[in-house]
Amino acid sequence: MSAEQQPGAGPETIGVIGSGVMGSGIAQVMAIAGHPVVAFDLDPEVVAAAPQLVAEGRFGIQGAVARGKLTAPEGEAALDRITFTTDRDAAEAVDVIIEAVPERLDLKIDLFRELDERCPAHTILASNSSGFPVQALAAATNRGDRVVGWHWASPPPVMRLAEIVRAPQTSEETIEAVCRLAAAAGKNPIVVNDSATSWGYITNRVYGAMMREANAAVAEGVATRAEVDQLMIDCFRWPSGPFGMVSGATTGWKSKTENS
Ligand SMILES: NC(=O)c1ccc[n+]([C@@H]2O[C@H](COP(=O)([O-])OP(=O)(O)OC[C@H]3O[C@@H](n4cnc5c(N)ncnc54)[C@H](O)[C@@H]3O)[C@@H](O)[C@H]2O)c1
Repeated sequence: MSAEQQPGAGPETIGVIGSGVMGSGIAQVMAIAGHPVVAFDLDPEVVAAAPQLVAEGRFGIQGAVARGKLTAPEGEAALDRITFTTDRDAAEAVDVIIEAVPERLDLKIDLFRELDERCPAHTILASNSSGFPVQALAAATNRGDRVVGWHWASPPPVMRLAEIVRAPQTSEETIEAVCRLAAAAGKNPIVVNDSATSWGYITNRVYGAMMREANAAVAEGVATRAEVDQLMIDCFRWPSGPFGMVSGATTGWKSKTENS
């Protein structure tokens, strides 16, 4: 994956920046896949709560053991591989960073500039942005060839999405490395091209079109939100309607009241 990393040198180390709804789940997935993971958040309360969420949350490791997806020793080993911390240095000394801070372009650009200055030269910087141009993040660094979009879906332990976004600067080596990591973690990597002008890659562009129409129908008084959700579930066998999907994504599907 990099000049420094030799084949057989062991699993890549992963740093996760931002350990909220997505970051904690991403850390869990990558630890189950065998990678040592250091997950950073600047909020100490998030860092304190994350281990229990990963162990005992609705999509946590204990549940995976109970459902027979992992053995108890495999689950314990995965938990042991994750460190949640407020020490950003520890999360930066890794092979691959997955960024999962809030969806603000200025925040992500500043972060990518800092990560470029502080991470080892070979480190790949991947963003879990929901839709910002990856080329804007790459342009903030001196390693554009090692900047890539890796868009996950919520909840990360369940959803197979690996929307891999190729900026003009991204090298094929980086694309291959990230696709290999995603596939080995049980995801289904599909590579799409970055767009300088559109937000949302493929998934959120199409989702956004659906939400605009659903909102318009509700505003016109054609149906309520609950009715729209139920009609889409009944018609297309979706597990959730569009409005249920919004609340589920925001909360990490912690509650079964969202129609999942
Ligand atoms: N929630 C979803 O369904 C979903 C799905 C796919 C992608 N995303 C994307 O993932 C990213 C994170 O979303 P989320 O839902 O996990 O948000 P979240 O608010 O749950 O978590 C973000 C975390 O980042 C932390 N943070 C803020 N600034 C930081 C910084 N400078 N350094 C380190 N940590 C910082 C916050 O304390 C918070 O814990 C966003 O870009 C979002 O668009 C979200």
